[in-house]
Amino acid sequence: MPATSGRRRSVAEPILQVRNLVKHFPLTQGALFRRQVGAVRAVDGVSFDLRPGETLGVVGESGCGKSTVARLLVGLERPTAGEIRYRDDDLSRLSRRALRAVRRNIQMVFQDPYTSLNPRMTVGDIVGEPFEIHPEVAPKGERRRRVRELLDVVGLNPEYVNRYPHQFSGGQRQRIGIARALALKPEIIICDEPVSALDVSVRAQVINLMARLRGEFGLSCVFIAHDLSVVRHISDRVAVMYLGKIVEIGSDREIYEHPTHPYTQALLSAVPVPDPEAARRGERIILRGDVPSPADPPTGCRFRTRCWKATEICATAPPPLAVPLAFADATGARRHESACHYATSE
Ligand SMILES: Nc1ncnc2c1ncn2[C@@H]1O[C@H](COP(=O)(O)OP(=O)(O)O)[C@@H](O)[C@H]1O
Ligand code: SF4
Ligand SMILES: [Mg+2]
Repeated sequence: MPATSGRRRSVAEPILQVRNLVKHFPLTQGALFRRQVGAVRAVDGVSFDLRPGETLGVVGESGCGKSTVARLLVGLERPTAGEIRYRDDDLSRLSRRALRAVRRNIQMVFQDPYTSLNPRMTVGDIVGEPFEIHPEVAPKGERRRRVRELLDVVGLNPEYVNRYPHQFSGGQRQRIGIARALALKPEIIICDEPVSALDVSVRAQVINLMARLRGEFGLSCVFIAHDLSVVRHISDRVAVMYLGKIVEIGSDREIYEHPTHPYTQALLSAVPVPDPEAARRGERIILRGDVPSPADPPTGCRFRTRCWKATEICATAPPPLAVPLAFADATGARRHESACHYATSE
């Protein structure tokens, strides 16, 4: 599969540094005198680095805060607390003007290509719209040509510039969304479940397209999915999220071959195994129940209400995201960060 080729492990300085990122949405009551009665803790202390040319996969069930992280990274939401650093700049401290210039370099591909494209705009206007906001990137006379180039780059016929979104299939619409994200020549692309709304048959095509473009344009990516199998072939590293927190993070090998957090193990055991013998040997862990409400997360470890290993300590002490003590002296892929008091690798 072409998406697996060309992996790079960069040792360069991170291009993006996220530290203790928090986003709480206020819960209010009362129609006339609205008062805050609580908060939805959508993102609750997320930290990670993204290195140049690297793709970080982010996975977790629906409601874990993945889209909120994406929206914070591209500036569609403002953090309640925490820091997002792009190269040397803390985004929360920049002037409006400086922030606009930085935002050009961090673009997003949205989850649903059916609702994220304005149905009344032609494809040419959609893909060229970013030039209206950043006219310095392409002078007016050049925009049409640039749009046609972008359509070609994402595998669409440049002759389609005057068509409307409804004249395209889901996969083609997502290509239009990708072309729009590339228009300003960004360094970082945040892909929020870009294939979840697509037919299984076209998912691989869109993932392969992203993998190719990443190499061609030297992009760094955050690639969000709710399923570990989707990000497997495109990620250099993977972060697993549960209820607003990262519970395990590591290289693709560390996460897929030596997961140490029960939540990751459960997600992986739900991934179909191609070899029926191996599937028979492996015990499947079935995750029961839904993700609890982020307005009232469990005390201690947030996964404890669904964890088959939970003990008393799990209800009182939140496990830190760190290399577990059990693996402190280990070498190899078991030694990576995992937020569990009883991290094990079987
Ligand atoms: N604008 C908002 N106002 C209130 N709650 C929100 C808002 N956006 C997201 N949430 C809540 O935050 C939690 C995380 O949502 P989201 O980031 O969309 O998760 P995911 O993308 O992992 O499914 C959910 O409980 C969601 O209902
Ligand atoms: S800390 Fe406890 S509840 Fe949380 S994942 Fe580990 S064993 Fe399960
Ligand atoms: Mg989402």
